Amino acid sequence: MTETREITGKTRVLGILADPIAHVKAPPGINRIARQRGRDAVMVPFQISPETLPHFADALRNLRSFDGAIITVPHKGAMASLCDEVSPSARAIGAVNVIRREPDGRLVGDMLDGLGFVAGLRVAGIPIAGRSAYLAGAGGAANAIAFALVEGGVSKLTIANRTRAKAKALRERILGLHPDANVLIGDSDPSGHDLVVNGTSLGMRTEDPAPLDFARLTPEMIVAEVIMQPTMTPLLVAAEAAGCRIHLGKPMLDQQLELMADYFGL
Ligand code: ATR
Repeated sequence: MTETREITGKTRVLGILADPIAHVKAPPGINRIARQRGRDAVMVPFQISPETLPHFADALRNLRSFDGAIITVPHKGAMASLCDEVSPSARAIGAVNVIRREPDGRLVGDMLDGLGFVAGLRVAGIPIAGRSAYLAGAGGAANAIAFALVEGGVSKLTIANRTRAKAKALRERILGLHPDANVLIGDSDPSGHDLVVNGTSLGMRTEDPAPLDFARLTPEMIVAEVIMQPTMTPLLVAAEAAGCRIHLGKPMLDQQLELMADYFGL
């Protein structure tokens, strides 16, 4: 049984910004955490178009009952430039997935996608410090994961992406913030890495090509997904068949909710 909490004049308001909005999954999770932590706060959906986002950001600066929001598709990049302050890695990535309203009205932002992924690994008993990592992808999700892997202390990060220029650009952005990081550009062969991560969208649809060469998976590798649906992607099926330890996409989301709740001060 979930205990419901009365919304009153003292209730703090949190939002989730998206367009479209109906599919978002976070509000029940955040509201459950708020209840568990005994906080008088509620997350509600805000559907807002990209054109009106700057006006909305201004309104949020002035909305004193507002504490923060989750930012999702298509607003992650635009909101990063509308914030008054963003974390160094969110600036380098060029996207935020959370904002918080400071008491003086300033909006500050951060990108917790990658941190959620790394926290999910940690909770599963897979520490990353000192391990070598192979990352397929250089899109939005992969960018956040790449920074979190480097900031989590991997000994080496190899990035492989269909569009090689995007992998190289990501490498440059990482080195801009972490000049000593060991970041390489790879191909579809993940051989020689402790941790293999799919950061692409490949595997959501049955007709998708493989995100990497499954034939190169070996039993000592840990293979992790960002895709949550389906739970067992072709990569995870192949990894399990190869004797690898596998890590599903869902823990990333669970851990992110906790990180977001912390970010909002719940
Ligand atoms: P997300 O926000 O989910 O990361 P994205 O930014 O569009 O979405 O990134 C999608 C990732 O999947 C990219 O790495 C993309 O490769 P490109 O940068 O070359 O586009 C990868 N991807 C998508 N479809 C692909 C395909 N058919 N073959 C190979 N890679 C693909």
